[in-house]
Amino acid sequence: MAVRQIREYGDEILRKKAREVEVIDDKIRELIEDMLETMHKYNGVGLAAPQVGILKRIVVIDLYDGNEPLRLINPKILKTKGTQEVEEGCLSFPNQYAKMIRPEEVTAEALNEKGEKIKIKAKGLLAQAISHELDHLDGILFIDNMLPGTLEYVEPKEN
Ligand code: NI
Repeated sequence: MAVRQIREYGDEILRKKAREVEVIDDKIRELIEDMLETMHKYNGVGLAAPQVGILKRIVVIDLYDGNEPLRLINPKILKTKGTQEVEEGCLSFPNQYAKMIRPEEVTAEALNEKGEKIKIKAKGLLAQAISHELDHLDGILFIDNMLPGTLEYVEPKEN
């Protein structure tokens, strides 16, 4: 496993549409484990493959709630319900946060790292994270969704 370099805002790859994964092989599984390691290193809740420079439809999500992180290949949102006003950031925008409206509930399907179809019914923070990460696969960034005037820079905490 290895920590990969995170692409930051201004890198044009973040605006490109990612391609479906056709074959889930060891190379894909290695990418997924690297994405998890990279996300954990920077204390992120989610990371999409384009953020490490790979235009494939893969995202990882970890809410640090004791559950196994989600590894989602070719994920699709099937339906959403309700709305929630949330504050969020993105590892491609260090120390920046904004408010936006996300769905309160999301039903999604994807393949896991074994190629098995999985279905996820998410609420709250998980619904927000799925919505944010799947946007990345279509070149959509959180600043596209933010409520006007809510973007703020927060000084990083000293470690
Ligand atoms: Ni992001």
